[in-house]
Amino acid sequence: MEKIVIRGGASLKGEVEASGAKNAVLPLMCVALLTSDEMTFHRVPALRDIRTTKQLLLQLGVRLDDFTPGTLRIKACEITDHTAPYELVKTMRASVLALGPLMAREGRADVSLPGGCAIGARPIDQHLKGLEAMGAEIQLDKGYVIARADRLRATDFTFDLKTVTGTENLIMAASLAKGTTVLRNCAVEPEVGELIHVLNRMGAAIEGAGTETLVIEGRDRLHGVVHEVMPDRIEVGSYLIAAAITGGDVTVTNSRPDHVSALLDKLQEVGLQVDVGEDSVRVRSNGPIAGRDVSTDPYPGFATDLQAQYMALMSLAQGTSVIRENVFENRFMHVQELVRMGADIRVSGRAATVRGVRSLSGAHVQATDLRASASLVLAGLAAEGSTHIHRVYHLDRGYDRLDEKLRNLGADVTREKDDIV
Ligand code: EPU
Repeated sequence: MEKIVIRGGASLKGEVEASGAKNAVLPLMCVALLTSDEMTFHRVPALRDIRTTKQLLLQLGVRLDDFTPGTLRIKACEITDHTAPYELVKTMRASVLALGPLMAREGRADVSLPGGCAIGARPIDQHLKGLEAMGAEIQLDKGYVIARADRLRATDFTFDLKTVTGTENLIMAASLAKGTTVLRNCAVEPEVGELIHVLNRMGAAIEGAGTETLVIEGRDRLHGVVHEVMPDRIEVGSYLIAAAITGGDVTVTNSRPDHVSALLDKLQEVGLQVDVGEDSVRVRSNGPIAGRDVSTDPYPGFATDLQAQYMALMSLAQGTSVIRENVFENRFMHVQELVRMGADIRVSGRAATVRGVRSLSGAHVQATDLRASASLVLAGLAAEGSTHIHRVYHLDRGYDRLDEKLRNLGADVTREKDDIV
């Protein structure tokens, strides 16, 4: 096991390049299940979740070639297994993204139910309801979803709530279904847009990208394409907050500033200088940070995946802020660890009240999920003394070469063998 050790206090300065987006690559890897042609993806980040998805695809009988760093070739000539096993789903809920494609191409899928996770119950009822509306027979057996269908057929389905992977699963299913499907109340996250773009290039006919209503004309077959993955907006946001919390000056290059608009507005509001270029964004410290409230919401609202990082920033701001988590019912697991570093945060239901303190102090901390760990890294960068972040595998799930990128910006960060956990 490894840990990350941060000796806080350095102002981060310089340029860092955004990696490809984790939450775009995961559905794209599953899209490869829809065609027997080869799919090639460039700008694939080196992440644990991507390794887990590769394992899943290999288990399904798919051929992979990932010898060139950053490039992944996937060829699903035939699918020899239909199971997403508990061992994989429990480490990565996004394994459920195999459900839609397996049902569309093979008419059968056995996918372990994800169960609870560190950020709440996170059911998949909407994925299942949508597939049932497309004619799938679904049963639950020994913790598995057992889904069967001859050929999925078109439907007019309205999601009860906004779900990102639920929308992605049904888009993939409808692309090979018989007839024209209408999906309403869809998630409009940029990663959904990327999936639609790639599917349309593969020969699918999906209208309404970027809106809540999608019209999908099912096709008999799709073909392979070569695609470069979009930048990771959550990684971009995390580095911008790193600049803010350390009083630094960081430019994130090769990014999509329009994908982080809600964060940029907030950073300006709390007193930072924000300069937006065509494909870069720079955040500079302009003196003290002011406490400002935020509420998370589906895109284009403030991303839940940046809530923990913003909370770390607010814990050192002047004044009090209230952070409301509207997407997940239990995503405040980082609070206890931030408090151990000296933050003053109280949680009541879905709201956390953060009273800014003058300084944080380094400590041994461990987190329960990816973004919670990122908030501890940010707190550690600004804290006095050393912060030891245990269970680094959470960070490795979603941040490509994090310690190296932070070092290049001037942070004192090392990755060490961990004897504690
Ligand atoms: N929900 C249901 N029923 C469903 C599906 C979702 O009640 O069938 C609820 C969830 O419990 C949650 C809300 O709807 O309260 C939104 O969940 P959503 O389905 O949108 O989340 P997800 O698709 O499982 C993706 C990202 C998450 C990100 C959320 C919200 C991927 C692989 N994961 O998850 O990313 O937080 O959307 O934007 O795209 C991360 O990267 O750290 C991460 C957790």
